[in-house]
Amino acid sequence: MTDAASAAEALRLRLSAAIAAARTLEELEAVRVRALGRAGEVTALLKTLGALAPDERRVRAPVYQRLRDELTSALEARKAVLEREALARRLVAEREDLSLPAEPPRPGTLHPVTRVVEELLEIFADLGFAMAEGPEIEDDWHNFTALNIPPEHPARAMHDTFYLTDGRLLRTHTSPVQIRTMTATAPPIRIVAPGRVYRADSDATHTPMFHQVEGLVVDRDVHLGHLRWTLETFVKAFFEVEAVTLRFRPSFFPFTEPSVEVDVGCRREGGRLVIGGEGQWLEILGAGMVHPRVLANCGIDPERWQGFAFGCGIDRLAMLKYGMTDLRAFFDADLRWLAHFGFSALRAPSLALGLSA
Ligand code: PHE
Repeated sequence: MTDAASAAEALRLRLSAAIAAARTLEELEAVRVRALGRAGEVTALLKTLGALAPDERRVRAPVYQRLRDELTSALEARKAVLEREALARRLVAEREDLSLPAEPPRPGTLHPVTRVVEELLEIFADLGFAMAEGPEIEDDWHNFTALNIPPEHPARAMHDTFYLTDGRLLRTHTSPVQIRTMTATAPPIRIVAPGRVYRADSDATHTPMFHQVEGLVVDRDVHLGHLRWTLETFVKAFFEVEAVTLRFRPSFFPFTEPSVEVDVGCRREGGRLVIGGEGQWLEILGAGMVHPRVLANCGIDPERWQGFAFGCGIDRLAMLKYGMTDLRAFFDADLRWLAHFGFSALRAPSLALGLSA
């Protein structure tokens, strides 16, 4: 073996061992640079060829070129192995266990307001009501004027309205959804519209944002008796009591005529207020027959159609049913409060199974 050949063989052995020993792609790249990079050992050998006499070059060139080719394939083979190993490691590291239980050890809970909205929708869906929605940023027409509350009407002062700089406002009740629904759809109409409403007011029983549910029925020959039956059916189902007494007190809302405020009969039992009985009265909602002018404002002929409507505070209902005393805690986002008063997201209320079963 010539000197050149044995030098090349020694280099091959050393570099092949380094390639085999490379444990990572980075280490392998370092070996490649050392062997075949611009200042690499094999590159340096190849560069010597140019200065050699032709005979000598003819002998050495194939030896050096084979060395380069062998090392190149060894590098590629090793690279493929290391890449496969790296992929296998990643697949193990990034593995997702899809068999985790659906109920986590510390489950989050549904807010009582969310739960009560679900209960309301379940009850009213059973009575054939659809759900309707409207925007929380309203204009004067939908929140007031179309509801028969013209600009200088004293009822506006009772609403403590939050106004935006462009003259729009945060809706003060869900009644504008009545207007939106009656404007967009022809009767017969049966909807409930739960949602957020806003009034500049804050104490233990008032928060600047709270929740209402609006109910609206427009049909032929609708009268106060239908309203009464609907509300009784709703209150019985919601509070899950067989017998409730509702008291209708004459009242005033510009958008209903006649208007009533509705109280539910209740009694004290060991310091707790229980729905049912007649010892005490608790106001739970406002209602009435839709004012003919409101129907007309929405393009519905009041000679042919009548309707009833009601509006009810949802937070109030939740407090009564589930025994919270301070409304402000509803919006503190205190996880301990939510863990205590919250509901499982996996148990939707169902009339068939019993509402709070
Ligand atoms: N919008 C009224 C309120 O917020 C409630 C109501 C709704 C009364 C529908 C009558 C009919 O107080």
